[in-house]
Amino acid sequence: MTCNKMSELDVASFVNAQVKIIKEALGNEKALIAVSGGVDSTVSALLTHKALGDNLICAFIDDNFMRLGEPDRVKAMLSAPPLNLPVRILNERERFMKALKGLVDAEDKRKAFRETFYQTLSDAAIVEECKYLVQGTIKADIEETQGGIKTQHNILEQIGINPVEKFGYKVIEPIKSLYKYQVREVARYLGAPEIASERQPFPGPGLSVRVVGEITDDKLDQVKAATLVVEESFMMLKPAQYFTAILSGGSYEAPKILKREAVEAINKDDIQVYARYLSEKATGIVEGTRAYGLVSTFKVLDYSENIVQLDYETLDDMRSKIQESFPEVTRVLYQIVERSDGEGYIIAMRSVETQDFLTAEITEVPWDILISTANKILTACPKVVKVYYDITPKPPATVEYE
Ligand code: XMP
Repeated sequence: MTCNKMSELDVASFVNAQVKIIKEALGNEKALIAVSGGVDSTVSALLTHKALGDNLICAFIDDNFMRLGEPDRVKAMLSAPPLNLPVRILNERERFMKALKGLVDAEDKRKAFRETFYQTLSDAAIVEECKYLVQGTIKADIEETQGGIKTQHNILEQIGINPVEKFGYKVIEPIKSLYKYQVREVARYLGAPEIASERQPFPGPGLSVRVVGEITDDKLDQVKAATLVVEESFMMLKPAQYFTAILSGGSYEAPKILKREAVEAINKDDIQVYARYLSEKATGIVEGTRAYGLVSTFKVLDYSENIVQLDYETLDDMRSKIQESFPEVTRVLYQIVERSDGEGYIIAMRSVETQDFLTAEITEVPWDILISTANKILTACPKVVKVYYDITPKPPATVEYE
């Protein structure tokens, strides 16, 4: 479970200082912010709204990669008291789908997303006559982008892109010195409701990084339905972050030694172990930098053909032995249920415990919840045939799949 770290942050002074800095820097100029409902953009919008009032324009970009019903839900939450932020939704679904069409590689997708995101904001800034763009960049975003772990969607200047030249606006980042838990403290101080201040993070590129490989309407529909199931089922465990990712379902047999390592680690009689590699890769971290690695899947059955419900110690033992011997494997997935007939997509359930998101442990979700959630996913997602639980910590995996 997430515990609260003692913060060295003086929240009231931080808020006063930031409001003053924004006021002095912008004067009577207008600013634009892309809000998502996440705690980072909400806190940045609240600080800027305090400084600028009506000169702040809050845009929710509906890029088609949000969860079911999210645009309207977020708009309602942010516009209502006590936050009272003036939010408008921009429907940009077609633009984003077109920009990402045919792309398979994680970094190519992230770059195309980022380009489209900023171009969309640039168009909105011109219409609204805003010279400034406010961003909810936090410390971990900068550290991870500089460390080469990924192309964070909201990082520009740190990787040498001049936003004035390229997009026509200056960027201000009022919370870039804070870690996530400190942003939550500021949110609570500013009166944000619990659904905003304690909201689990959702990546800027949204479900585009959870549809592994090429994005299609079909995969998006299925992952949206599965996400809803996992969010409802895991919520009571209060993990730091919990979601699903969808993969095409293509796979091939993993090396025999990998299976042998798993059998040794499990150390049980009367079991059958099936080990495969998925045809798509997923991101991970090897020696401190981002790596695109193999995803291995394990199905462990007893002789009545039932899935063996291994305890978490054994699961981790198996996983770590495999990843020590095969560092190219950045993810290990353990099968929970499968449909008896036909081919189709794979859903990976992911749930992690972390404070700073730079490292993370998996949530030890009780087996009865794993099974009931996976079965509900099969019911909600007719094109999904197998559901797994991702048992990989960060590192060597990343939290997200791309
Ligand atoms: P990873 O996958 O890098 O994720 O272990 C760490 C945390 O960052 C979130 N994340 C993002 N957030 N823009 C964001 O605003 C992004 O491009 C992005 N990529 C990952 C992720 O959900 C997790 O909380």
